Amino acid sequence: MTKAMTISELELQIKALRQEFAADDGLPAGELSVKYLGKNGLFNQLAAVIGQLESTDRPEAGRLLNQLKAELEAAISKRLQEEEQQTEWVDLTIPGIRPPTGHLHPITQAISEITRIFERIGFTRVRYPEVDWDWYVFEALNMPQNHPARDEWETFFVDTPPHPERGRMVLTTHTSNGQVREMERLGQPPIRMINIGRTYRRQQDATHTQVFHQFEGLVVDKGINIQHLKGTIDYFAREFYGPEAKSRIRPFHFKFTEPSFEVDFSCHICHGTGYLEGQVDAETGGTHKCRFCKSGWHEVGGAGMVHPNVLKAGGIDPDEYTGFAFGWGVERTYSLKEGLNLDDIRLLYGTDLRFLEQF
Ligand code: PHE
Repeated sequence: MTKAMTISELELQIKALRQEFAADDGLPAGELSVKYLGKNGLFNQLAAVIGQLESTDRPEAGRLLNQLKAELEAAISKRLQEEEQQTEWVDLTIPGIRPPTGHLHPITQAISEITRIFERIGFTRVRYPEVDWDWYVFEALNMPQNHPARDEWETFFVDTPPHPERGRMVLTTHTSNGQVREMERLGQPPIRMINIGRTYRRQQDATHTQVFHQFEGLVVDKGINIQHLKGTIDYFAREFYGPEAKSRIRPFHFKFTEPSFEVDFSCHICHGTGYLEGQVDAETGGTHKCRFCKSGWHEVGGAGMVHPNVLKAGGIDPDEYTGFAFGWGVERTYSLKEGLNLDDIRLLYGTDLRFLEQF
């Protein structure tokens, strides 16, 4: 037999329940209702003890329990009413929270900017295969099989059977493969092409990546000469780097251009002087050297007058037409832009948003 319970013990338990209810002040009405008045709630658990009371005590116990239940019900329904009245205040004039949006990758931005600059002077943007035959990448560009000039392009070869006339398949080492392809596409001058694409070389360090981008200009028409080349390069420098920017060409050698040049742009930090203006070295009294460029100029790539053999390979008569071409790295050209002193070009291809979001 369970030990009989007295009224005063019941009263103690009722008191304890009231205290617990008071401590649950912060709970919402729904939760209170389940906890106290639910089927297995605290009230029913307590009311079950009525069987343990002497039969003479039961009427009094019933009265006490009924009172407790009425109290709990009243308190919970009051809470429910309060909750229903609490309508949230909304200020419709507060600006919304803008969801984070991405933007184009800096290289994609550079490619569209370069495209727009050349389109303004009548160039057409084209794209050619980035996996192409040896013929377009080397041979048609006046670099016969086994010519040592090919060594400059650290080439990835694709392990497939060679084409009977066009030779092996390679990952394009430069966008110059577009030159003869564009001549074939148009059949005859005038040609004003800007070919931008991915290029591949066996190289990897802080200033070189195995995959990078180049943009290649090609102009072929009657009477095209070096002045047109220099004027185009100057125009690009001003448009891309700002009105102060200058370009210079230095003699160089490429098998597919004659004469050939390397192209430099003036350093935007020291304006081509190699020294920082107004900054005098306290110890020597001399002027500080520009650490960005060292000599005032940055080399960006190659250029030249299209070699007659290349025109011939593209089916164009070199006695009638002449042309110029240039090819530069997009990453290199872009990273020289004001404020972009990138000491590791690989950052551009990382996934670190803290870096990429700055552009
Ligand atoms: N294709 C050359 C390179 O990748 C650059 C170049 C293009 C030079 C066009 C002359 C004319 O280095």
